[in-house]
Amino acid sequence: MMVGELAMAALVILLVSLLALVLSHFLPLLLNPRAPKGSFGWPLLGETLRFLSPHASNTLGSFLEDHCSRYGKVFKSHLFCTPTVVSCDQELNHFILQNEERLFQCSYPRPIHGILGKSSMLVVLGEDHKRLRNLSLALVTSTKLKPSYLGDIERIALHVVGAWRGKSTVTFCEEARKFAFSVIVKQVLGLSPEEPVTARILEDFLAFMKGLISFPLYIPGTPYAKAVQARERISSTVKGIIEERRSAGSFKKGDFLDVLLASNELSDEEKVSFVLDSLLGGYETTSLLISMVVYFLGQSIEDLGLVKREHDSIRSSKGKECLTSDDYKKMEYTQQVINEALRCGNIVKFVHRKALKDVRYKEYLIPSGWKVLPVFSAVHLNPSLHGNAQQFQPCRWEGASQGPSKKFTPFGGGSRLCPGSELAKVEAAFFLHHLVLNYRWRIDGNDIPVAYPYVEFQRGLSIRIEPIYPES
Ligand code: HEM
Repeated sequence: MMVGELAMAALVILLVSLLALVLSHFLPLLLNPRAPKGSFGWPLLGETLRFLSPHASNTLGSFLEDHCSRYGKVFKSHLFCTPTVVSCDQELNHFILQNEERLFQCSYPRPIHGILGKSSMLVVLGEDHKRLRNLSLALVTSTKLKPSYLGDIERIALHVVGAWRGKSTVTFCEEARKFAFSVIVKQVLGLSPEEPVTARILEDFLAFMKGLISFPLYIPGTPYAKAVQARERISSTVKGIIEERRSAGSFKKGDFLDVLLASNELSDEEKVSFVLDSLLGGYETTSLLISMVVYFLGQSIEDLGLVKREHDSIRSSKGKECLTSDDYKKMEYTQQVINEALRCGNIVKFVHRKALKDVRYKEYLIPSGWKVLPVFSAVHLNPSLHGNAQQFQPCRWEGASQGPSKKFTPFGGGSRLCPGSELAKVEAAFFLHHLVLNYRWRIDGNDIPVAYPYVEFQRGLSIRIEPIYPES
C-alpha cells in the first residue's frame, strides 16, 4: 500500500512537471499572438537541434531555407531553451545592432559565460562593456602605431611558410592557426612564436576552444570541464607575465601590455580576461578567414592568377624589402578576395541578443525577454542583395565600399562592431602574399567549410605545395 501511494505520488509529480514544462514552453506563444509567424517545436529543446544542424557555410542550411520560405525572413522559434525571434532580414539586423543596450542586449548562452568568465567582453554589459571596449580600441590603435606592427606580422608569416620547406602537403588550417595565434600573442603580450610560453598558451587555448563548442557538462574529463581548467591555466600564465612585467618596474617595451598595465580602471582579473578575449577574438576567426581565402582561391584558377599577378608586381617593385602600409594599399584585388571570402564563408553566422522590452518593428512584435538572433549569413547569401550570391566573385567589390554596410556585416555592427577587423584583413593579405610568392599549391581532396554553426574544415584543408624557388 505504502509503495503504491509513493508510486502514485511520483507519477503525479512527474505529470505535473511535464504539464508545467509543456505550459511554460507554449505559454509565450499564447501570450504573444503578435510575434512573427513560426513554430516552437518540442518542449525544452524546441527547434535547437535543427537550427544547429551542420551545413556548408556558404549555404543557408535546410533549417533557415525551410523556415524562411514557410514564414518569411523574420520568424519565431524556440532555441537554446528560450523563445526566439530569428531575423534573416538586413533592415531588422541593422536595427538590432544599432539599438544595443537601448532595445536589445548582447546575450550569449549561460554555459559560454562559464568558460569565458564573468569579465569577458561578450558577457559584460553597460558601463563595464564600455570600459573594456575602450581598452580594446586602445589595443588596436597602439598596435597600429608600433613601428614593428607590419614587420612582426610579415616575419611570423615567413616563419610559418618557411617551415614548409621539404614538405609536399600541409594541413592548412593548422598552419593558419599557428600564424594567427602567434600574431595576436605578439601583439597583446609581446611574445614570439619561439618562446616556450607561447606553445604552452597555445596548447591550453586549443582545449579552451574545444570546450566553447562542447556540451556544457562540468564533470572531470569532459571537454567543457577541460576548457574551464584550461582557462584557469591560461589566466595564471597571463597573470605571471603581467607580474613579471610589473616587477621590471619602469622598464617599458612600448607594447600593448604597457598600455594594459597602466590602466587604473581595470582590476587584474579584468586585465587577464581582456587578454583572453583578444586571443579568442583574434585567433580562430582570423585563421578561418585565411583558410577561407585559400579554399575559395583553390576553386578558381582565374582569381588565384589575378592575386599572384598583384603580389608579383608588389614584390618586383621592392625586392627583398619588408612590406609597408603602402604595399598593403596596393593589394586591391586581394582585399576584394578577402571581402568575398568573408561574405561567402560566413565565419560568424549569427550573434546572440535579447529584447530588453517589447519592440515593435514594422508588422512584428518582438516580445520583451525573447532571444533575438540576427543571422548575417542569410543577408550575405541573399540573391536580391548580392547578384549570383552563391558564386565566389571578388570583382563584385570593385569600386564598392569595402567597409561594413547593412548588407555586409561579417564583423557585426553597432557598439559591438569587431575592433579587430582591420588587423584580421592585414594578416590575411600578408599571409597570402608569402604563400603565393613562395609556393605553387592546390587543395588536396574535397574539404568544404561546414557551419556547426561554428565553422570548420572537417579535414583541416589539406593542400599540396611545391616551392617556386627550390632551395639551392
Ligand atoms: C576574420 C576575423 C574576425 C571576425 C569574422 C570577427 C567577427 C566578430 C563579430 C561578428 C563580432 C561581434 C560579436 C557580437 O556582436 O556579439 C566581434 C566582436 C569582437 N571581436 Fe572580432 N572578429 C574577427 C577578428 C578579430 C580580431 C583579430 C580581434 C582582436 C584583435 C577581435 C576581437 C573582438 C572582440 C574583443 C570583440 C568584442 C567586441 C565588443 O563586444 O564590443 N576580432 N568579432
